[in-house]
Amino acid sequence: MSQNRTVAVIVGSLSKDSVNRKVARAIEGLAPDNLTFVEVPIGDLAFYNPDIEPEAPAAWTAFRDAIKAADAVLVATPEYNRTTTGVLKNAIDVGSRPWGHSVWADKPGAIVSASPGAVGGFGANHHVRQSLHALGVALLPFEAYVSAAYTLFNEAGELTNDATKAFLTDFGVKFADWIDRNAR
Ligand code: FNR
Repeated sequence: MSQNRTVAVIVGSLSKDSVNRKVARAIEGLAPDNLTFVEVPIGDLAFYNPDIEPEAPAAWTAFRDAIKAADAVLVATPEYNRTTTGVLKNAIDVGSRPWGHSVWADKPGAIVSASPGAVGGFGANHHVRQSLHALGVALLPFEAYVSAAYTLFNEAGELTNDATKAFLTDFGVKFADWIDRNAR
């Protein structure tokens, strides 16, 4: 039987109705029971500025501590203008510093992107992948793009599309196995 693991969830959207958060929550609901998902908020992180590192804002420290404490990280990214959102890129940057103390190195991770469009946030997904790979995150080698995302949930935010349920169930199973194989 697999060990219990905590997964830090980062949603790259500030919208209260974020479809990416709905996707992340659907993954949580469908994933193996040994995974516990905890969203780590990123909306209060000041823009990264090395000049204020000596008196790092409390929100930076809380974010860094939350990622460090988790066994793995799940990133759900919207696509803004064919890349990820500024708020998500800022969170990645905050976690990567101070130099030598990055919270990302060797952390097992997975990326999902969701968009109302046909391409499912492909551009954002790969830009996030590029940064997290460079930072040493052990990324699940499985691509997850959720297209036409507004059509997949009911008014209560529940996933109603069976094909997407099957896809995200498979994603969760693969991620749990990946965490078991890569957890430090
Ligand atoms: C978008 N959207 C968008 N969608 C897409 O598929 N490709 C894109 O390049 C863009 N660009 C873009 C730029 C900006 C500034 C906004 C506000 C929106 C639409 C986007 O996918 C949609 O708003 C999603 O609902 C965003 O995800 P959340 O916030 O619902 O998780």
